[in-house]
Amino acid sequence: MKKTNENVHKLLKILNDLEYHDGSNLGEALGITRAAIWKLIKKLKAYGIAIQSCQSKGYRLLKPLILLDEKKIKAAHNTAKMHLEIFEKIDSTNDYLKKQALSMQQIAICLAEMQTAGKGRLNREWYSPFAENIYLSLRYPLTTDISQLNGISLLAGLAICKAIETLFPMLKPHLRVKWPNDVWISGEKLAGTLMEIQAESHGNCQIIFGIGLNVNMQQVPKTSITQKWTALTKATNTYIDRNPLCASLITQLIAYIERFLNKGFKDFQTEWKKRDALTQRTLRLSTGTQDWEGDYLGINAQGHLLLRTRQGKQLSFAAGDATLLKY
Ligand code: BTN
Repeated sequence: MKKTNENVHKLLKILNDLEYHDGSNLGEALGITRAAIWKLIKKLKAYGIAIQSCQSKGYRLLKPLILLDEKKIKAAHNTAKMHLEIFEKIDSTNDYLKKQALSMQQIAICLAEMQTAGKGRLNREWYSPFAENIYLSLRYPLTTDISQLNGISLLAGLAICKAIETLFPMLKPHLRVKWPNDVWISGEKLAGTLMEIQAESHGNCQIIFGIGLNVNMQQVPKTSITQKWTALTKATNTYIDRNPLCASLITQLIAYIERFLNKGFKDFQTEWKKRDALTQRTLRLSTGTQDWEGDYLGINAQGHLLLRTRQGKQLSFAAGDATLLKY
């Protein structure tokens, strides 16, 4: 677990013009030796960053790369209410927040440039390459009883859509939520959320929303992601600075949680329906112990998925994995 090194920030800011920069000049600009620059370059290459080295000209980045920047993300928020940390490398941002002292009454946010043990739902891995995507966890302290939190995990998908469309209005017609926790564009997964709850002895609890959002990722090793996936760069045809997006995700997630606490899940049902990727589809619902096939009938006021089986029986599911069937 490592906080992002200031020199890495400075170096990438210079290299971001995609021109060659000589090792000595870089060293001078950062106030470190040429050998130290070489070490930083070696480290970035090991993270998978495409940097070309040429003996006579120095180093150049092959693609733009903007790192996460605490100042830019904090600028948009009331920082007295929240505690934000950014890591260069971490096992899992969700696990980090789970280990932090529970009594902290602030909203805690953890971001990382890469995760070595990123977790998805249903014990899947979450592929988390360096500086390409957003890996964000937000912990919100609640005084509400766990029994009052039905449907809260579904908020994250809606908040992600809102955060994206605020910055990229042209994507609004294409963003969809897929029950329970995914965001899709054209049937491909753009983002996923892993929600975890920690109960405290005096009845309070902490809720952790972990968001994985594919931003600038263009290629992945064959076995790393098994589902169809997409990334914002593909949908917008541009390289995306993740900082304003992180700020927007934090703003929207907090706003959605607070609206849930005031009004309950029923206040989000219409919004869900408008963005629902499963409307009028036939699907397979796997609960882990059993599979069910049938027509999707929407979600109820608790956020449970409703399915009419082929035998005409109506069932509701609080959890599970939904796969679209093509027929
Ligand atoms: C899923 O769709 O399966 C959920 C993916 C959630 C991934 C995010 S990345 C940030 C946070 N830290 C983790 O280890 N997982 C979540």
